[in-house]
Amino acid sequence: MQANVNPKWWKESVIYEIYPKSFMDSNGDGVGDLAGIVSKLDYLRELGVNVLWLTPIYGSPDQEGGYDISDHRAIMDKFGTLDDFDRLLGEAHERGMKIMLEMPLNHTSDRHAWFEESRASKQNDKRNYYIWREGRGSGYPNNWGSYFGGSVWEFDQDTEEYYMHLYGKKQPNLNWENERLREELYQVVKFWADKGVDGFHFNSIAHIVKTEGHQDNDDDNPQHLPVERAYQMFSSLEKVNAIANRLHKESGEEYDIVVVGEAAGLDPAQTLDCIGDEPGKANIVMNSDHMLLTHSSQGIGRWTNKSWTLLDLKKAVSHWQTVLHEQGWNANYLADHDQPRGVCRFGHTGEYRELSAKMLATFLMTLQGTPSIYQGEELGMIGGGFHTEEDFRDVETLNYLAFAKRTGIDPEEALKVARRNTRDAGRTPMQWDASANAGFTTGEPWIGLAPGHEEVNAEAAVADPNSIYHYYRKLIELRKVSPTLLYGEYKLLLPLDTDIYAYTRTFEDETLLVILNFFAGTPHFNCPERLCERPRELLLGNYEPGEVEGHSFELRPYEAAVYRLG
Ligand code: GLC
Repeated sequence: MQANVNPKWWKESVIYEIYPKSFMDSNGDGVGDLAGIVSKLDYLRELGVNVLWLTPIYGSPDQEGGYDISDHRAIMDKFGTLDDFDRLLGEAHERGMKIMLEMPLNHTSDRHAWFEESRASKQNDKRNYYIWREGRGSGYPNNWGSYFGGSVWEFDQDTEEYYMHLYGKKQPNLNWENERLREELYQVVKFWADKGVDGFHFNSIAHIVKTEGHQDNDDDNPQHLPVERAYQMFSSLEKVNAIANRLHKESGEEYDIVVVGEAAGLDPAQTLDCIGDEPGKANIVMNSDHMLLTHSSQGIGRWTNKSWTLLDLKKAVSHWQTVLHEQGWNANYLADHDQPRGVCRFGHTGEYRELSAKMLATFLMTLQGTPSIYQGEELGMIGGGFHTEEDFRDVETLNYLAFAKRTGIDPEEALKVARRNTRDAGRTPMQWDASANAGFTTGEPWIGLAPGHEEVNAEAAVADPNSIYHYYRKLIELRKVSPTLLYGEYKLLLPLDTDIYAYTRTFEDETLLVILNFFAGTPHFNCPERLCERPRELLLGNYEPGEVEGHSFELRPYEAAVYRLG
């Protein structure tokens, strides 16, 4: 192996993200749960994934899918009990799979006992567990905008001060400047680490410390700036690094644990500063530049539509592939619980749904970094089924629709935008079979199903050797045993081609060539000469092998192929 490759289990893993609410319901209450996950572990093992990333499962009133924690050491009632969790952990370990827990530590629920005390009086000894400020004149303490729209400040009538919330009003921000609070949270992490979990995903970690004094970041808007302009004010990275160090000490030092940091918006220097293979660092960083191409992630930007080009995608992805090579480690993903489905954004939802889903799978699995598959992606699931406002569940979407009403945006237009960009589109129930409710629940699902589960479902996919599911299986197999796919250097080819995304991965004397036709046309692939002088062996593709002799050959719609060059 090359000297600069530092093999780690988490670099050689494939992550599968589970949004428990929508994965599998075992008791007919319409909400997915931990026992439901246990019942599907064999399905996941067969797929070949080996790290299950669970979005928050802790005690929570579930105002925001569990991202609003009311008890860090419990399980959300709807999801089960701590015993169910221990069982899930044990059963996953028995099957050679690991469990990674997502931890939102930026905020809690307003129903957390700490907040209930904190808001009780200015003298309460937990007052400083949260961020409280007096108003400025009759207005907000500053002009920062929240991720879910409006100001980050909410007025509390009883104590006549404002508390900060970067996300929803029911998610007050913790005050990480308070040492007692920090200690409490380190102990929370230790509690779960001692249970034997294999990793943590620290959500919004870059934003846990705010700039000192909470100054306006610009004074041209006295009310609140869109979050895109405000977020630098809540990214005090130096302090975050020190905290992350302690978090990792508590969680990882004595255990072989992986730490994933969600670091949207960080630049390369900031990222390199906090990433590394050793404890005390984020091992894997999730950046979201490529996810912001069709619309911004959160804030009002989510509700504007940008048209993306393949050149933009190449630029965003190649940048991080290059910057982190031998310096850090990427998490690669094309979908998560905060976005509409990958195939709806970067693929085709009509006749080429399957081919485009396989093309995107090839992309995801052949980049350098640890890939993360979002539940249902392996089936090529698409979102949808949102007809009226009542069909939406996501607080961010509901806030937008209320904002649209207040500001006179045409209601039909607002609904159209919401249908296209809502986070709910990625949260419809997992489609297990063709039966009513897709086999997700015997009750009334908490959110409606996306259309099409009669054809698109796990049972059908497992039975069909040509399905997207089996294509993922083959890719996962291939990746597992290929040092080149795991550690090889990425080099972009044809940077200006607007239809084809092609690159090589090279490790020692092996080079793999990946060719992806991102659209429904039939462009010519003009192979850079030095590469096509070498014989090519097709390792995997989403079509039967075609005529690919010579330096130039035609690609079929959404064709994807991985070649080994001799
Ligand atoms: C993270 C999650 C998102 C959640 C937010 C606030 O960004 O991915 O789903 O809304 O944190 O908790």
